[in-house]
Amino acid sequence: MHPITVNPNILKMEYAVRGPIPQRAAEMKRQGREIIPCNIGNPQALGQSPLTYYRQVLSLVEEPSKIERERKLKEIFEETPGSPLREADFISDYVLEVSEKVLTLSGTGTGAYTESKGFAFVRQAIADFINRRDGFSGKLRANPEHIFLTDGASDAAKRVLNLLIAGPEDGIMVPIPQYPLYSASITMFGGVQVDYHPDEERGWALDRAELERAYSEAARQGVNVKGIVVINPGNPTGAVLGESSIAEVIDFAAQHDLAIIADEVYQDNVYTGKFISFASVLRERPVPLFSLHSISKGFFGECGHRGGYMEVRNPPQIAGSGLNLLDLLLKQASVGLCSNTAGQILTYLMVSPPEEGSAPYTLFQKEKQRILRELYEKAQMIRAAFDQMDGVECFGETGAMYLFPRLNKLPAGTGDFEYCMALLDETGLVTVNGSGFGQKPGTHHLRIAFLPPKDLLAEVLPRWVEFHNRYVNA
Ligand SMILES: Cc1ncc(COP(=O)(O)O)c(C=O)c1O
Repeated sequence: MHPITVNPNILKMEYAVRGPIPQRAAEMKRQGREIIPCNIGNPQALGQSPLTYYRQVLSLVEEPSKIERERKLKEIFEETPGSPLREADFISDYVLEVSEKVLTLSGTGTGAYTESKGFAFVRQAIADFINRRDGFSGKLRANPEHIFLTDGASDAAKRVLNLLIAGPEDGIMVPIPQYPLYSASITMFGGVQVDYHPDEERGWALDRAELERAYSEAARQGVNVKGIVVINPGNPTGAVLGESSIAEVIDFAAQHDLAIIADEVYQDNVYTGKFISFASVLRERPVPLFSLHSISKGFFGECGHRGGYMEVRNPPQIAGSGLNLLDLLLKQASVGLCSNTAGQILTYLMVSPPEEGSAPYTLFQKEKQRILRELYEKAQMIRAAFDQMDGVECFGETGAMYLFPRLNKLPAGTGDFEYCMALLDETGLVTVNGSGFGQKPGTHHLRIAFLPPKDLLAEVLPRWVEFHNRYVNA
């Protein structure tokens, strides 16, 4: 076959998280070398166990005959004096009942396509969750018809960007550094990426003057800015936005008629402060808001199951048609038929944890607290190692699953890519160079996911410190 032409946007698109450094790591692994993949927020790949409650329900919903089997086995156990088994060896009635409820509410189980937006009962549970989380009542209450279930937040982000980018002059503002899903998708859909720079030394806070600078520079070049992406807590920075930064973005978006895409997939990964949602600060202001959430992060880490949702507030009318944006989101969702059902059910479980006092409650809380506590402790271990490294500074509160230290001292003529490659070769640590996310010209960073088990970190961090001080002073 002759070479073919393809969509040039896909040729142009870049995605550093799975770029040359992880490719080199994969090669090293094939050669039998130990590698520690800290390049991606994929918790279960680094040994995090799935939550027992989620997997019990999911497995029973996937294989409903096990619900009856479990009940029968328990009956036999109860009638068998001296059985070596214990009550705790059986799945609790609560879990069996939740699984039955999910099956009944789904109507069709997990093997059928669902409504394009996703199961109605899951969307209702998400709306209830948002109302609880943000204290919404009355007019502010989330509307299940404005909620779309998606195959992860990546799917949601792509859907929104695909809709907003109507031509090559349409621009989307993204924070620099940013999670490359956004830069890659903007390129894929043929739009313009408009960079704005959160203030690193103020913990990556957002300020209005910088937003205005980015907007007016783009406008001067003929870019029609349509939306602004905010990632909170941040990836790659881990930074957690305060209410004033969120309010700045909302004021700014209101003034320039922009839609806000609030990527809030790390909302459970706030270790010291408090997560504030965009919806809770927006309240009744008529700015279009897309909030994204996912089962991949938090303390659940169900990345492989591909689940999440998008909530839309203030969907605008579409120029030149009698349609609303929701109609088009529905059309878009319909073309994909529906998001996968395992992801939908895990999203349901994410927004409706076991009730206090129920049988699975204590174990669920224990697993949750342990995962979040360890994530924070691991971040602190890595920060302590940075303190021993020449010229390394790490700004901002600890959030999400990442640290994004600045490398102030590097050998002349080299950048963070060379540093990350050398770090990988010496220690097996797979990180992503700051240039993969974008960064202020002249600065160098790397991103590390604080996910590996503590004993592995305790072993590798001293080797990193030793490597670093030798490398930068060579
Ligand atoms: C900020 C951010 N948004 C979205 C995603 C993608 O999430 P999902 O697995 O739900 O597609 C990630 C994954 O790392 C992320 O960091």
